[in-house]
Amino acid sequence: MTAFGDDAIEAARRIFAGPVGFLKSAPALEHLPDAVVPEVAFAGRSNVGKSSLLNALTNRNGLARTSNTPGRTQELNFFDMGDPLAFRLVDMPGYGFAKAPRDVVRTWRFLINDFLRGRDVLKRALVLVDARHGLKDVDREVMDMLDKAAVSYRLVLTKADKIKPTDLDRVIGETRAEARQRPAAHPDILATSSETGLGIAALRAAVIEAIG
Ligand code: GTP
Ligand code: MG
Repeated sequence: MTAFGDDAIEAARRIFAGPVGFLKSAPALEHLPDAVVPEVAFAGRSNVGKSSLLNALTNRNGLARTSNTPGRTQELNFFDMGDPLAFRLVDMPGYGFAKAPRDVVRTWRFLINDFLRGRDVLKRALVLVDARHGLKDVDREVMDMLDKAAVSYRLVLTKADKIKPTDLDRVIGETRAEARQRPAAHPDILATSSETGLGIAALRAAVIEAIG
């Protein structure tokens, strides 16, 4: 795992403790806000914990809407960080949500893919993976797309509180091995829990590193 120094951790903590605001929801690409600052996007399968992780990073419960039911987030949601505005976080709909109507799944897939490969201010995508399940083929499809488009991304394990430490170590190892085969992936894996706060300080530092 990347070791961030105490200074980087503390600097990131301060930035995330500063002003945060919901900017807007974009249901389609023509509604995107102007690309004026660096952005970091949260991608991953439905229900993996994207919105929860955004809340944990900013320490604001309820900033991004979360739910037990997959398919909660249906648009690209932009959050302004810092005053003056320094960067933006983008919460995205989940992919691989089999129960949604087919045309909705298609719409989301195009929205997610077109945004990820076409947004010039996007500094990095965080591809979230449920620690209990590891990488699935639908994750690999998104990784293929990001590799092809040369969009930098980092794999982040979520819900680490839900598995035993030995299992977590194994999943970290397996996920890291795949990341290292991937040209656009960061070689290190961060394991997180929005419940316990595991890995949250490091992920803040990783976001700041990405926008820097
Ligand atoms: P969609 O917007 O539907 O794609 O889902 P999402 O990826 O934004 O997931 P969300 O943050 O809404 O979380 C889904 C469910 O997982 C919620 O019931 C959360 O409370 C739960 N959850 C998220 N992160 C964690 C975690 O770190 N640990 C545990 N135990 N539960 C979590
Ligand atoms: Mg969500």
